[in-house]
Amino acid sequence: MGQFLSNCSIDSLASAAQALKEGSLVAFPTETVYGLGADATSASAVARIYEVKGRPADHPLIVHIADLKYLEQWISDIPEYAIELARAFWPGPMTLVLKRSDLAKDFVTGNQNTVGIRIPNNSLALGLLEAFHKIGGAGVAAPSANRFGQVSPTTAAAVKEELENYLAESDLVLDGGPSEVGLESTIIDCTSSLPRILRPGAITTAMIEDVTGLSLANESLQSSDYAEIRVSGSLENHYSPKARVFLDQEPVIGSGFIALESTPTPEGVIRLAAPKTVEDFARILYESLREGDHQKLDSIYIEQPTGDGLALAIRDRLGRSAKGR
Ligand code: TXA
Ligand code: MG
Repeated sequence: MGQFLSNCSIDSLASAAQALKEGSLVAFPTETVYGLGADATSASAVARIYEVKGRPADHPLIVHIADLKYLEQWISDIPEYAIELARAFWPGPMTLVLKRSDLAKDFVTGNQNTVGIRIPNNSLALGLLEAFHKIGGAGVAAPSANRFGQVSPTTAAAVKEELENYLAESDLVLDGGPSEVGLESTIIDCTSSLPRILRPGAITTAMIEDVTGLSLANESLQSSDYAEIRVSGSLENHYSPKARVFLDQEPVIGSGFIALESTPTPEGVIRLAAPKTVEDFARILYESLREGDHQKLDSIYIEQPTGDGLALAIRDRLGRSAKGR
């Protein structure tokens, strides 16, 4: 079941950190999506993440920390460009994949010799992580707080919908309101001489190149290609609602419809969202897919935003979502 906490005070964050230390799971908001957190150094706590998510155990998890000073203990090597990225975009919607230290065990890294690290930009998340470090915690492993293959949650209500039947009495869900970005972090492989995007997100190719002065190793990579490279979680990433998702096709009567506001609603369809901008599109996409399921729609038609940057990240998720079922 799990216990839900809204209006989290400093005290409740301290007790949530204590719960993590004792091996419980704590779901918490981040600016991208809600995460399902566990003590990243505890094999048994991390095992419960896999159990609650129903996720295969060889999928690596992202370790969340509150500050750059907690990075060093997790890694064995970091290229100069990764330090520049960390300084420019953390806290923020970016995960760096780096060579791991002995602290990053196989149960977190999915047996890879690398570890994914992120400092999220959300005051509740940072408060929880800070409180956890304060009692000796090294970092919090957290995947998106959804069941395997489902749409990531961007609200505490969506976490409840996904996980309430799987959480234990002692587990917690922190409610921090809706996530501002709405799409999972950009994952950047920093183990070679050039950075490489493994999962596109709100930190875009242009932003990375601008900060590092380097050309990305996969600059010409299309969003459909990256899955094959390294992200073993690519299988997980179905991002699928129960409704079937169709992209850029003429919607049938009675189906759900999502497109930018500038596209009029075709006759006979249910408009689930009309975002004004690409940023709005990202922010409300997952909630709109959930809404389609609440309305028990068979199909949802989506007119995808064009262009690169965040639009490319949206198309990446939607491509998987349409393939998912
Ligand atoms: O925005 C986010 O990144 C959210 C929030 C909660 O931080 N987390 C998230 O976690 O999306 P998850 O587990 O749902 O997706 C993380 C992806 C997985 O596809 C996983 O395979 C990949 O990151 N990943 C983690 N560690 C990795 C590593 N060492 N090498 C390659 N890929 C890694
Ligand atoms: Mg996920």
